[in-house]
Amino acid sequence: MTKIEFLKYLSKGWFGSSQQHSIHAQLLKARGLNKLADKIMAESDEEWDEAKKVNSRLIELGETPVVELQEYPVITDIKEMLEYDFKDAAEALPVRTLFSSFAARRHHGLRITSTRTKGGLP
Ligand SMILES: [Fe+2]
Repeated sequence: MTKIEFLKYLSKGWFGSSQQHSIHAQLLKARGLNKLADKIMAESDEEWDEAKKVNSRLIELGETPVVELQEYPVITDIKEMLEYDFKDAAEALPVRTLFSSFAARRHHGLRITSTRTKGGLP
């Protein structure tokens, strides 16, 4: 996977999971679970911002981002919803860490020399 493919993959994933979190937060709020709904909506906002940062980086690299989001299930059962989110977050952690590494390198003015990630991504 090239760096550009990786960034497009991240953007698609974060826009999708942000939408899922937003819907879950609205479902929780409708049940009166306001504190949990607010926490999940904050996660949605954070992921939307991350996706926008990735699109900005793609533009910096001369690419044109596309409108695309990864499909995620809408889960109405609260226990299943939280279990899914916990599992999804754990699986996404290596990818998030890799992107943070890219961002840190850019922040410190270093260039990424490799256009391939190790071993592919999920
Ligand atoms: Fe998330």
